[in-house]
Amino acid sequence: MTRADSDGSVHSPVLREEAIAALAIRPDGLYVDGTFGRGGHASEIQRRLGPRGRLWLIDKDPEAIAEARARFGADPRCLIHHGSFAELRALAERHGALGSIDGLLLDLGVSSPQLDAAERGFSFMRDGPLDMRMDSSRGMTAAQWLNSADGEEIARVLREYGEERFARRIAQAIVAYRNQQGPLQTTGQLAELIAGAVPVRERHKHPATRSFQAIRIHLNGELEDLSRILEDACDLLAPRGRLAVISFHSLEDRLVKRFMRARSSTAQVPPELPVIPEQLKPKLRLVGRAVRPNAAEVAANPRARSAVLRVAERLP
Ligand SMILES: C[S@@+](CC[C@H](N)C(=O)[O-])C[C@H]1O[C@@H](n2cnc3c(N)ncnc32)[C@H](O)[C@@H]1O
Repeated sequence: MTRADSDGSVHSPVLREEAIAALAIRPDGLYVDGTFGRGGHASEIQRRLGPRGRLWLIDKDPEAIAEARARFGADPRCLIHHGSFAELRALAERHGALGSIDGLLLDLGVSSPQLDAAERGFSFMRDGPLDMRMDSSRGMTAAQWLNSADGEEIARVLREYGEERFARRIAQAIVAYRNQQGPLQTTGQLAELIAGAVPVRERHKHPATRSFQAIRIHLNGELEDLSRILEDACDLLAPRGRLAVISFHSLEDRLVKRFMRARSSTAQVPPELPVIPEQLKPKLRLVGRAVRPNAAEVAANPRARSAVLRVAERLP
């Protein structure tokens, strides 16, 4: 099922059946959806819970949280948290639930309603204010950052988070525009400026795609938040608890893949050690291989095309 927002924007949950199966839901377990969005995955978890089950819903976006409150707020099994999933450790400690989470789902990145609403400033396809904050109640907007950061920093962000070959040229164009014409204000201005600065064209890809992704990742601290929750994941999960992460670009997926591999192997143990010390023992077991959407899902929902689901289980 897809859900329509009040503005008509639809979010189709990506890899929904696969992610729900990966969580191996027990009716009386505690599950966390760290990226509620429009609740496509959360409602499937809720449906599988019995009266003693619990579901925690987290999102940075006040609009997503308003939707969570409207649809899940009356269910006593649900706890709704406005903030980052990187705060989950503190939340779990507050509720005495460290080491008790049976399933943690992260469906990373932005939702369709965020991308589709011009006023959120995420899309180079829709002209709107340069915002790009997932949490529109705090933090710096893209306009504030682009109009104040120096060229070196802008180039670094575009290179690191967008893997943009022409990062320096784009950064120079941004600084020149600021100096000559005043502050950048809209996504349309930025997209046009980038298109003018990038000398080559990739097929089926707007020249601003990488830069918009990079600015969004930087402003929202996306990789920092992901690293933080991965760092905490083994302490958060109950024995046999599952971690399921859906990534949408290679930087996220690399972090998830490396983390899961490192925590599920004894590769770092020196071979001469007769007994493996507790802190070097694997904490996770990989569950299956990386899962990608099938052709039918990609045809129905082109935004699913770059999704990768990885799953691991906490060893007892
Ligand atoms: C791809 S959407 C999730 C869609 C959701 N699974 C559904 O089916 O409706 C990603 C959501 O995660 C939120 N988000 C991204 N990073 C976050 C973070 N670090 N902490 C909390 N929420 C985050 C975004 O605001 C967005 O609403």
